[in-house]
Amino acid sequence: MNDLNTGREQWGSRLGFILAAMGSAVGLGNIWRFAYVAGESGGGTFLLLYILCIIAIGIPILMAEFTIGRRAKSDVVGSFETLAPGTPWFVTGFLGVASAFIILSFYGVVAGWAFHYFIQYVLGGPAIGGEGGSESYFIEFHTSTYSPLIWQSIFMILTIGIVYVGVKKGIEKSNKILMPLLAILVILLAGYSLTLGGAQEALSFLFSPDWSSLRDPNVYLAALGQAFFSLSLGMGALITYGSYLSSKDKLPGAAVSVVTLDTLFAILAGLMIFPAVFAFGNAPNSGPGLVFITLPDIFNSLSLGVVFGTLFFFLLSAAAISSGVSLLEVAVAYFMRKFSWSRKKAAIIIGGIIFLIGIPSSLGYGALNHVTLIGDRDILDSMDFIASNIFLPLGGLLIALFVGVGWNKAEAIEASDFGNTWIGHAWILILRTIAPVAILIIFLSSIGLF
Ligand code: PHE
Ligand code: NA
Repeated sequence: MNDLNTGREQWGSRLGFILAAMGSAVGLGNIWRFAYVAGESGGGTFLLLYILCIIAIGIPILMAEFTIGRRAKSDVVGSFETLAPGTPWFVTGFLGVASAFIILSFYGVVAGWAFHYFIQYVLGGPAIGGEGGSESYFIEFHTSTYSPLIWQSIFMILTIGIVYVGVKKGIEKSNKILMPLLAILVILLAGYSLTLGGAQEALSFLFSPDWSSLRDPNVYLAALGQAFFSLSLGMGALITYGSYLSSKDKLPGAAVSVVTLDTLFAILAGLMIFPAVFAFGNAPNSGPGLVFITLPDIFNSLSLGVVFGTLFFFLLSAAAISSGVSLLEVAVAYFMRKFSWSRKKAAIIIGGIIFLIGIPSSLGYGALNHVTLIGDRDILDSMDFIASNIFLPLGGLLIALFVGVGWNKAEAIEASDFGNTWIGHAWILILRTIAPVAILIIFLSSIGLF
């Protein structure tokens, strides 16, 4: 169904919108990124700060994105131009488009790894119980030159294909089936993982904060970045999805459902991965490969492991696609409007460029493994750091200030569906104060200013 006045897409139902937003949120961020960042940042303190960031910063900004999108009915740049013509707020939109390019470029690499493991489980390849164990297999695979690039390109082709036919047709239905399946599987695997003998260590790692690390500003920045990344926040993915929403739907309920689901997914993933990490003697801080080493260990120890492994990596790949689609859609929606490109043309050209940008991130583990960009971070990790820890929070800061300060307060509250209630006023207050101030303090302290 298209909007008669503008020819823009519209979600088929309120459920369709929520499912799409959930599909964007739930992805590699909950499982791959959450596990390795929590593992590197010491567990409990990180989890606590992550949850605080979600409540105090994430939910209010997520509501701000939904509200901007639905009111403006345009892409991430056009939304600011519509709501605040002749002002510099549209720069926020460009930051978002840039974030989409960077994030999807490396997201495709990791999604490619997930695809590869899926097919390994289907075909019974050496990833499953091969000699040398899951760690040596992962190292051999992801440091090679061509194979990861091929899987990355397959992921990009599928993502482009869905954006090409239109997001609504592409994902509304599949999300309804695949996401609950992934949830069930993660719960089952968490239950199993907790029996492997590492439960106690894992629970104390995840849930008892080490208070001394509260003095480390990097843990705050890691938690902030993870909150933005996992919620698909700060770059306009949810502005773009909100723009396909009709005015009948209620935003606050949708916002709370998306945030709750995404956070539960992350915590469950933690309960699935860390008990096994400790049980099998892996290192929690072993970086981006953590889940690709630990999960095969879990599956190898299960009698129906191949079935579980196949299903798990299939569903993880599907979750990665619905997130990738939302990333690509941000850029595609912008290019369609700005340059009057067709959806098909924009999807292919932009998706192709993003694939090319992602190639160095993949090669950074093999042919380019001597390259470090930010500190001692490899290329993928550096891209991730720039986008997730800097661009997304900065975008979020600007979005918060736009709704809190730049926009007329009464209009913003009305557009949000909060109405003239205390919650509506509290929301604006948070967007004016707590959210931007917290982001700023975390930024400044992480560059050593405090
Ligand atoms: N939220 C997605 C995930 O957790 C990733 C993503 C980030 C998607 C930003 C869209 C925008 O995997
Ligand atoms: Na997520």
